[in-house]
Amino acid sequence: MALPPRVKIVDVGPRDGLQNEKAPVSAADKIALVHALQDAGLREIEVTSFVSPKWVPQMADALEVMAGIVRKPGVRYSVLTPNMKGWESAATTKPDEIVVFGAASEAFSQKNINCSIAESIERFAPVVAAARAAGIKVRGAISCAVGCPYEGEVAPERTGMVARLMKGIGVDHVGVADTIGVGTPLKVRRAMEQALAVYPIEEVSGHFHDTYGQALANIHECLQMGIATFDASVAGLGGCPYAKGATGNVATEDVVYLLHGLGIETGIDLDRLVDAGAAISRAIGKPNGSRVARALLAKRGVAVAVECA
Ligand code: HMG
Ligand code: MG
Repeated sequence: MALPPRVKIVDVGPRDGLQNEKAPVSAADKIALVHALQDAGLREIEVTSFVSPKWVPQMADALEVMAGIVRKPGVRYSVLTPNMKGWESAATTKPDEIVVFGAASEAFSQKNINCSIAESIERFAPVVAAARAAGIKVRGAISCAVGCPYEGEVAPERTGMVARLMKGIGVDHVGVADTIGVGTPLKVRRAMEQALAVYPIEEVSGHFHDTYGQALANIHECLQMGIATFDASVAGLGGCPYAKGATGNVATEDVVYLLHGLGIETGIDLDRLVDAGAAISRAIGKPNGSRVARALLAKRGVAVAVECA
């Protein structure tokens, strides 16, 4: 199959990238990151999460961050909402899209959202109904689609099962997530095939953490299947608080470099994206996790730390 001519990137850096930072990151820095991303041409930005501040303290300023961003026409701002409490709070901030997040593994569902997969679907159902009634699109994340930190291997059929459950409650789009970055192209293809048996191709995306350095290979595999939406995190920021040792998402800069090299349009200005990643890396005092950003910054004569975050 021909590669898609255009790919949509959802930058999840402000949410997935920062949620696991131990030291507080100010709302002002988070807002500046969202602004830098939209100025670089990102048209989809995952801004924050309406989750329990006891579970994820870094996202406790969700209301402040959503209130502080100056929205750009044509950009979709999404937020995570695990339950009605999260939805009710999120709805006051008028997101363009919400994300319910389930898992293909029972153990991860319990650790991450404190309920079984079946219970999670029951919790999501009223959230999805309320969002759709308000004209807001709903994405469903399927964590641990190719491997779980607690259960190990996860069969591809588990992705199909969760996709069907999500479809049954009206979720518009599913994101197949390699939460701990253990996937390799064949495993990812098999999980994707399961999601594609339930959702049309334009409503399936990939979300790859890069722990084992396989994320770009996995994205390339998905491109060959015609999948054209991917999550990524500027400067490779991040990790999941309930997946110990997992590193951040694949760096947005690295994905953009790959896509542009393949002649695929993204609408993103790589230089400005590198600026966005350099600024947030400085703000949180972490080395830049994007290899492409480090190479381009070095070319500009900027001293960069070489080790990954
Ligand atoms: P729970 O403890 O089962 O919920 O948590 P509960 O209904 O029993 O409530 C307990 C307390 O939490 C109560 O407060 C509630 O008010 C409060 P208390 O009376 O004890 O003071 N509470 C909330 N507060 C704020 N916002 C809410 C909310 N809900 C309840 N929405 C819950 C269930 C889901 C809330 C909890 O487990 C939680 O917040 N988990 C955090 C999960 C999370 O954010 N994980 C990281 C994001 S997912 C991810 O990174 C994966 C992804 O990137 C894809 C991938 O890579 O796989 C998307
Ligand atoms: Mg993630």
